[in-house]
Amino acid sequence: MNIAADTPVIETRALRKVYAEGTQAEVVALAGVDLRILPGEFVAIMGPSGSGKSTLMNLIGCLDTPTSGQYLCGGIDVATLDREQLAALRRDRIGFVFQGFNLLPRMSAEDNVAMPLGYARVPPPERRRLAQAALAEVGLAARASHRPSELSGGQQQRVAIARALINRPALLLADEPTGALDSKTGEEILALFKRLRDDGHTVVLITHDVEVAAHADRTCVMRDGELHEAEEPLSADPLSASAAASERPAMDGRAGPSASGSGRATNGGEAHQAPTR
Ligand SMILES: Nc1ncnc2c1ncn2[C@@H]1O[C@H](COP(=O)(O)OP(=O)(O)OP(=O)(O)O)[C@@H](O)[C@H]1O
Ligand SMILES: [Mg+2]
Repeated sequence: MNIAADTPVIETRALRKVYAEGTQAEVVALAGVDLRILPGEFVAIMGPSGSGKSTLMNLIGCLDTPTSGQYLCGGIDVATLDREQLAALRRDRIGFVFQGFNLLPRMSAEDNVAMPLGYARVPPPERRRLAQAALAEVGLAARASHRPSELSGGQQQRVAIARALINRPALLLADEPTGALDSKTGEEILALFKRLRDDGHTVVLITHDVEVAAHADRTCVMRDGELHEAEEPLSADPLSASAAASERPAMDGRAGPSASGSGRATNGGEAHQAPTR
């Protein structure tokens, strides 16, 4: 599927997600999110714990369905796709780095990384070659035969990143991909993401770290289920970045900037009811 340069890779319209709707445990995790991301953009999403970041990411990654609202992935309304078409979209276009890694415990690092290629029917020798190359890219060539339990947290995170990259997905979604990494490894992973962006891939990254967000072209801030564009790009300058980092708790708790970002211009009125789980 080729997407014209001006068709958003991601366009959500009034996207809502309510967990346990109508019960005492009801949580409005997304309160109507309008987000537009164009091909080749590198976007960071920040915001306090529980503000809805992973919920949004799961919807963008077609791993969950909204309560209401619309999500167009590369111009296609995903609510119109059947299960097989959705699975194909995920397999062919989206790489997902989960917040909790989601590695299969009984498989080696190499087999974990190669897994998406199995679904894509790539022959085994080619799978092995690509998986080894992807592991080398994240600095883990020497650990290919280790199981997740034999790897450190940061190494497991890098295996998860290698797995997400193996198909060279047009859209890479990463939920706290550098959270468990030391700063040097984190920088290397960010450099890898930037190379992908420079090759025309779209990267969306959730992070709590202002310095990580400073590498992105654009930052959005999630607060109580609402998404706002950050008022100005975060600086990559080390001095101001560390100053910003020291203010992180304040930033997390602050009320949102004005909702004047480009993403807010979409017409939520067009939203239609999507299937709910
Ligand atoms: N499956 C679920 N059932 C019920 N409530 C849920 C479920 N998943 C998430 N929630 C709730 O929805 C809200 C948003 O959760 P989400 O995981 O999106 O937050 P987050 O911004 O990713 O937080 P963190 O930074 O801690 O990862 C939270 O209040 C959470 O408790
Ligand atoms: Mg989360």
